[in-house]
Amino acid sequence: MDRIRTNRPASLKMFDFSDTDSGISYESTEDEIEINTPTYSVSLMDPIEAVMKPENLLEKFVEVGGRRYLNDNTLKYYLPSDQKEVKRTYDRYFIDKIMWGGNYSAPVSDNLSLGASVLDIGCGAGAWIMNMALDYPVSIFVGIDIAPLFPENHPPNAAFLKCNIMDGLPFPDNTFDFVRQAFVIVCMNWQAWKEKVVKELIRVTKPGGYIEIMEVCREDINPGIICQKIDAYLLEHLRKAGINTASGPDVIKAFNEFENEVIVAPMEERPYYFGKKAGRIGEATLKCILEAYKGIKIILTHIMGITEKECEQMLIDFEKECNEVTLCKTRYRAIIQKRLDAYNG
Ligand SMILES: C[S@@+](CC[C@H](N)C(=O)[O-])C[C@H]1O[C@@H](n2cnc3c(N)ncnc32)[C@H](O)[C@@H]1O
Repeated sequence: MDRIRTNRPASLKMFDFSDTDSGISYESTEDEIEINTPTYSVSLMDPIEAVMKPENLLEKFVEVGGRRYLNDNTLKYYLPSDQKEVKRTYDRYFIDKIMWGGNYSAPVSDNLSLGASVLDIGCGAGAWIMNMALDYPVSIFVGIDIAPLFPENHPPNAAFLKCNIMDGLPFPDNTFDFVRQAFVIVCMNWQAWKEKVVKELIRVTKPGGYIEIMEVCREDINPGIICQKIDAYLLEHLRKAGINTASGPDVIKAFNEFENEVIVAPMEERPYYFGKKAGRIGEATLKCILEAYKGIKIILTHIMGITEKECEQMLIDFEKECNEVTLCKTRYRAIIQKRLDAYNG
C-alpha cells in the first residue's frame, strides 16, 4: 500500500482511528503525513443546549431523542451522526448517481482508470469513496470528515481520516488528481468556506487536476404551503448561522477569484423532483428529505416553536403535500481545473 508522503514534520498526535482501520500506515516518521489533531469544543450545539447535561461537556457526541449528534457548536452541523444517518446518506448517494448518470462529472475517468489520487472532503460515511474505490482499484481514495462514521471494512485503496477542514487539509501541496466535495457547504459558515477552504482545495490539487463541488443550487421550485413554512424557518435559521443555502453561483464566483490558478467550467444543474408523481426516484428522494427532517426534528421544534408531536404531524402532512404538489430542488456540480502553470505561493 502506498503511503501519503509529505516533507512536513509529523506531530506527535495521530488521527483518531478509533472507529476504523484506515488501511494506510501512519507511523510518525519524519517524511510521512502531517497530523492535525481535530479540535473538539467543550461547548454545545445551541439548539439542544437546554437538554445537555454537564457530564456530556467533554463528549464528542451527544444522544438526544434516540439520535446521536456531534457535540460541537463551533460547527454548523445539525444532522445526526449515527447508523440511521449512514443509511440515509447511502440512499442519497444512489439517488445522486442515477440523477447524474455517474459518480462525477469532471473529465477524470482516464486518469482514474490509470491510477489517480482522489480526496473526498466531508465524505460522511464514505458511500462515494466505497463505490469509487471498487470501480477504480488502481486509484487511491482518501476521505476526510470531522465525524468518524467511516466504514470498518473497506477496499485496500480507500482510507479515511478524521479532521476538521477548518484547520486546513493535512496534505502537501499538489497531492491529488481529483478533489471532490458534496453537500458540505450547506453545513458550514459560508465566509469561512470561501476564505479558508477554497484555497486549501486548490492547494492540494495537482496542476492539471480537477476539483468538483456538488451542492444545492437555488431556492425551491413549486413548494407547497407546508414546504414553504419549513423553508421559511429552516433557511432563515441556517442563514443566521452564516450558511449559504443555495450556493451555486457563489461557488463559481469564489473560484473565479483565483483565476490565475484555476479555470472554472460553467455550472451543471439537475432538477430533483420529490414525491410519487415523480416515480420511484421521486419517492426515494422524498423519503431521503423526510429522514433528514426527522434527524433535525429537535431543531425544527426549537425554531418553529412547535411540540415534537406537532412536528411529527407536520412531516406527515409534508409527505402528503409532496405526493400531491411535486416539489423540485435543484442540485449543481461545479467543475474547476487547476491550471498546469498554477503556482502554490
Ligand atoms: C451532509 S453531509 C455530506 C456527506 C457526504 N459528502 C455525502 O454526500 O453524503 C456533510 C458532511 O460534512 C462533514 N463536515 C461538516 N463540517 C466539517 C468540517 N469542518 N470538517 C470536516 N467535515 C465536516 C459532516 O460531518 C458530514 O459528514
